[in-house]
Amino acid sequence: MSQKRKVAILISGRGSNMKSLIQAAKNQDYPAEIIGVFSNRADAGGLEYAANEGIQTGVISHKDFDSRESFCEALDSLLEEWGTELICLAGYMRIHSDAFAEKWTGKMLNIHPSLLPSFPGLHVQQQAIDAGVKISGATVHEVIPELDAGPPVLQAAVPVLDSDDADSLAARILKVEHKIYPLALKKFIEQSANDDADAAEQESLIWPQ
Ligand code: GAR
Repeated sequence: MSQKRKVAILISGRGSNMKSLIQAAKNQDYPAEIIGVFSNRADAGGLEYAANEGIQTGVISHKDFDSRESFCEALDSLLEEWGTELICLAGYMRIHSDAFAEKWTGKMLNIHPSLLPSFPGLHVQQQAIDAGVKISGATVHEVIPELDAGPPVLQAAVPVLDSDDADSLAARILKVEHKIYPLALKKFIEQSANDDADAAEQESLIWPQ
């Protein structure tokens, strides 16, 4: 890929998935560069790591806004200022306004610690244990306005052991999250490039030009 896609990562916490994306993007052949890390929380652990990696960071607290819409407008302005082409949500725990989600549909990925469409929402490892499933996992999916409902890009499965509690299951799932997020972002970018090429080829077949 000649030109790397400009990716902003959105976090709310420790940012271990963010780290795996930052590390993957250091590879010369990786099709994305991480241009910024945003958090809605100034105390998100991942911010310091990103800054130490020389990546610009931004914080806007959702608490300073009286509506979801106005917070998302401020976030959108910052992402535009950065020249963002794609967004990766990595433990970002805010729901977007519909306008934000619609604008970035097709350009925004999320990682979720279950095999969607099973167990959307919160406390998903506990949901899996309560349901008695024997396999769970992680999903990287496109983000659409409906929560945790966009098309999956990549999934990985892990066993759920009888001895598991939510924490032990979360730790097992997190390990595969770190593997699949960089792979999914690469796959997503390469597929979009192919789609663009297919569209251009189809257009060239339209007659008369
Ligand atoms: C990860 O397990 C991620 O899948 C989950 O939060 C954790 C963040 O960890 N995200 C969600 O539950 C989103 N609905 P990290 O900050 O270390 O990447």
